[in-house]
Amino acid sequence: MGIERLGPRQVAKMRAAGRVAAETLAAVGAALRPGMSTADIDRLVRADTARRGARPSQLGYHGFPAAVCTSRNEVVCHGIPREDEHLEEGDLVSVDVTSELGGWHGDNCASFALGALSAERAHLLDVGRRCRDAGIAALRDGVRLGDVGAAIEALARREGCSVVRDYGGHGIGRAMHLPPHVAHVGPAGRGRRLRAGMALTVEPMIVLGDDPTVVVDADGWTVRTRSGAPCVQFEHTVLVTREGAEILTRARSV
Ligand code: MF3
Ligand code: CO
Ligand code: CO
Repeated sequence: MGIERLGPRQVAKMRAAGRVAAETLAAVGAALRPGMSTADIDRLVRADTARRGARPSQLGYHGFPAAVCTSRNEVVCHGIPREDEHLEEGDLVSVDVTSELGGWHGDNCASFALGALSAERAHLLDVGRRCRDAGIAALRDGVRLGDVGAAIEALARREGCSVVRDYGGHGIGRAMHLPPHVAHVGPAGRGRRLRAGMALTVEPMIVLGDDPTVVVDADGWTVRTRSGAPCVQFEHTVLVTREGAEILTRARSV
């Protein structure tokens, strides 16, 4: 199946959906405190999303039971918010917010520090954000998906980290998940060519150390590192353009 290239009216709708997802994520980030439960994050996301006239895309998605994914420390992605899971000083928590506005989806994630981090966790958090940004910086009309993954992989390795191979980014638009699958590893020069007007996510999951192997819990959702090493994730929804990429999940600056 071909990948849709969006026209200006469709792009305007993606910008609006992306902004809502970004603003909800920013609101959650500003509210995080040690002692909060991950279920508190879910309530925040539901209320903030509704206030913006949007709907949490993840709620009920293939049976996912919450409005947001909350993934602490060694949890890689798809963590389910719980009343009995409390944020602690020194934690890293990834919050993945996806919002649907007027039938279009915006998807973004960030990892946040609770209080002071160990030096190695602070390094991981920095590398995770830079890996996403390196992937986005590799985008423009005509590049191949492998070029994007290779840029991420090279940076992660150079910084003593590794890239989760089992999950990737995706096309996005009138559905949260559309083709193509966006691997966050190379090789460069391989894979589909991207074209201006395609909307997709870049969302690398970056693990401290050289083992990115993951396991899935019995709940069928929670993905964690096999080794117990911490993992972070940063995600943007972007539009490929002639010269580069436009980030769609950018919060309005206040
Ligand atoms: N927002 C996630 C992503 O980045 C999707 C999680 S699917 C869910 O692709 F069902 F776990 F919510
Ligand atoms: Co997401
Ligand atoms: Co995504």
